[in-house]
Amino acid sequence: MAKKLLFYRCPVCHTLVELIDNGGHSLTCCGQSMQPVTAKTEDQADEYHLPVITRRSGLLYVEVGKKPHPQSEDHQITCIVLVTKQTVRRSDIKSNRSAATVFTDKDHGDVYAYCNVHGLYKVSF
Ligand SMILES: [Fe+2]
Repeated sequence: MAKKLLFYRCPVCHTLVELIDNGGHSLTCCGQSMQPVTAKTEDQADEYHLPVITRRSGLLYVEVGKKPHPQSEDHQITCIVLVTKQTVRRSDIKSNRSAATVFTDKDHGDVYAYCNVHGLYKVSF
């Protein structure tokens, strides 16, 4: 089973953080508590946001969406994260670049994609 990854988002400035080690304290930003971000899964996702995984030649190719996601400054996939039992790998995606990346293949894990407008999406493999 993949390591559980926790994300929090500021309700004011929309800063997104990934929690590495939970010390039990609350996170604040802009004077308010940051809110946990729950990942949407396959049955809750549309065709623009769910990571699609293809294995080829020892690599894990990840494209976000069955249809291309917009990649403008205002609306974009900002990162794709691969999580396994032992590792976390993040690929930051710049605007005007396709929402895709490549990781070293793994037996199983979770892949997250974060859209700065629609939130977090996850697929397990
Ligand atoms: Fe989106």
